[in-house]
Amino acid sequence: MPGAAPIFIIWKKSWVYRELPVSVFNRCGVLAMYDDYLLLKITTKREKAETVETALLELGALSCTLQDAVDTPIHEPAPGQAPLWPDVEITGMFPDTADSTLLSHLMERQLAGGDISAMSSKKLQGQEWERVWMDDFAPLQISDNLWVVPSFCEAPDPQAVNLMIDPGLAFGSGTHATTTLCLRWLAKQDLSGKVVLDYGCGSGILAVAAACMGAAKVYTYDIDPQALTATVENAERNNVVEQIVVCKKDTEVIGKVDLLVANILLRPLLDLTGRFAQLLGDDGRLGLSGVLSEQVELLANAYSGEFQHCETSMLDQWVLYSAKKQGKNLSA
Ligand SMILES: C[S@@+](CC[C@H](N)C(=O)[O-])C[C@H]1O[C@@H](n2cnc3c(N)ncnc32)[C@H](O)[C@@H]1O
Repeated sequence: MPGAAPIFIIWKKSWVYRELPVSVFNRCGVLAMYDDYLLLKITTKREKAETVETALLELGALSCTLQDAVDTPIHEPAPGQAPLWPDVEITGMFPDTADSTLLSHLMERQLAGGDISAMSSKKLQGQEWERVWMDDFAPLQISDNLWVVPSFCEAPDPQAVNLMIDPGLAFGSGTHATTTLCLRWLAKQDLSGKVVLDYGCGSGILAVAAACMGAAKVYTYDIDPQALTATVENAERNNVVEQIVVCKKDTEVIGKVDLLVANILLRPLLDLTGRFAQLLGDDGRLGLSGVLSEQVELLANAYSGEFQHCETSMLDQWVLYSAKKQGKNLSA
């Protein structure tokens, strides 16, 4: 999987984050102790992943990273859950002084029940490890004047709106097509003085973007408590705390909002049709993503009762569907 981030488990084509047993910061501390490393990669089945991970740690691995071994999307895990892919590649990272032949032999002996479908090893320089991780989170240009910039990078255009977002446990580093589509949509709206709702806020990236682009107030809501924590952190990092209201329930939204952006998935978006109609004011704008191109018709049908379709945009196989709430002024 090219460009994978080895520190957490991130599969960019999917929405899966899985934290390692030790926090990222502890792991970076461990990494700093060695100049070079030995990586032992083992492919196994989901059911055997924990056994392999434990065996690697028992043999002295400094960390284990789990990634999708094939190409199996897990689109949206339930809050607090981190389901594994059917085939998992587990990378144990050892100090460079470890003997790869001996380690491979010991692993084979320890896992004699055929838990290993493939095994390989390679050396990695400490700086290379750091670079691989950082390369995965380079600044990303969304539109002429909007960038997502990891906090350890320089903003390529200091005059632009630069969202300082760090990858964390909640979804939303900006690199997924659906987030990019929502950010592009927000960048085209007149947000000045508007009240916005980011429904399913994840990292809060869309809320932070709306606040940085002039929204007076941005409500954020997510069913996952980790997302609300991440949203507060990203609001602080971007100095927009005063504009952002973090809600534990969507009933905490006061009054009607002018714009609602939701990057969730088809099923919840279909269920939320009525709720979104209640939350949006007349002529309010809706930007929905998280649906695949072949699902957009279903979505459009569900929203056609109370909303007037405005545009559909596409990136990779993902779609953003935008609409306006049927208000008094239909032709505007
Ligand atoms: C794909 S992530 C989007 C995160 C972020 N808004 C972005 O665009 O990058 C979807 C988020 O919606 C949340 N979510 C899923 N179903 C939801 C629901 N019914 N109500 C509120 N949030 C929901 C998930 O917990 C997750 O954080």
